[in-house]
Amino acid sequence: MPPVRPHDAEFSDDLGNPYAHNEAFWDEVTPVHAASDYYRLSEFKRGDDVLHDFIVAEVGDVSGLSMLHLQCHFGLDSLNWARMGAAVTGIDISGASIERATGLSSELDIPATFVRANVLEMGDRFDGQFDRVFTSIGALCWIGDLAAWGRAIARALKPGGMFYIAEFHPVMDTLQQSSPITNSSAAYPQYPYFGNRIPLRFDPEGDDSDYAEASFTSEETTFEWFHPVSEVIEALINAGLTIDRFHEYPFVTYKARQGMIRGDDGLWRLPPEVIALPLMFTISASRPAPR
Ligand SMILES: C[S@@+](CC[C@H](N)C(=O)[O-])C[C@H]1O[C@@H](n2cnc3c(N)ncnc32)[C@H](O)[C@@H]1O
Repeated sequence: MPPVRPHDAEFSDDLGNPYAHNEAFWDEVTPVHAASDYYRLSEFKRGDDVLHDFIVAEVGDVSGLSMLHLQCHFGLDSLNWARMGAAVTGIDISGASIERATGLSSELDIPATFVRANVLEMGDRFDGQFDRVFTSIGALCWIGDLAAWGRAIARALKPGGMFYIAEFHPVMDTLQQSSPITNSSAAYPQYPYFGNRIPLRFDPEGDDSDYAEASFTSEETTFEWFHPVSEVIEALINAGLTIDRFHEYPFVTYKARQGMIRGDDGLWRLPPEVIALPLMFTISASRPAPR
């Protein structure tokens, strides 16, 4: 997930299949994440909710609704929505994630469906089936073609259905990762805001630790795309959706940059000395119902 990873990130012109590289990375990291404190799987098994409060408040009551969860990883959030009453289908490119999600669904006796698929290759499989399409936190950087992503969301929604995304703000993604951000002059960009639709390539680095488990370093190269806010909004509008709400927030859900401080609400913010910047955004968009 980290929206950017440090070190030697260069625009790549020798991609191979970026999605195959990313799939291998996610297969490798899935068991590490399932065992990490970050994901709070044991708390979830004990009955705690792991979804963030601001997301639950914005998505609203899901009981009795059908929900497609894009990039569901090992199914934790999907199963949380299912426990809140939604009929959830989770999809993810990682076979290891889908296997783990399916196992958790059986183990915890929380019914849900999990399907291995690239978001960009869902075809007509889910056309018009869902009241809600949901995706969150570290999802967009793995999607190269946001226009196709927007179309896939629009066709999966029922008329009148709602799409919701909570994601790292691309302004946050630009911030340098070399030193703690404890004053405004340290809040300078190191990564591009406009991704130009070309992914950054991240090769394994000895000291490049994982966002959920600092002791783990991947063996895999990944490819990640930077998308300005305008590209996200245009993708949804051009797919025929209506933007209902757009919010920007000064917090993130993990310590994305050195110097961030954890609040009592469990969210991370830059210190008050640093100029206020948007660190996350959320969008709610709906598929118009026929008149
Ligand atoms: C950081 S997780 C984001 C989900 C969730 N918020 C979380 O933290 O568990 C990113 C997920 O996206 C999946 N993924 C990456 N590229 C994908 C693609 N093109 N289609 C479907 N899933 C993809 C990965 O396998 C991974 O499980």
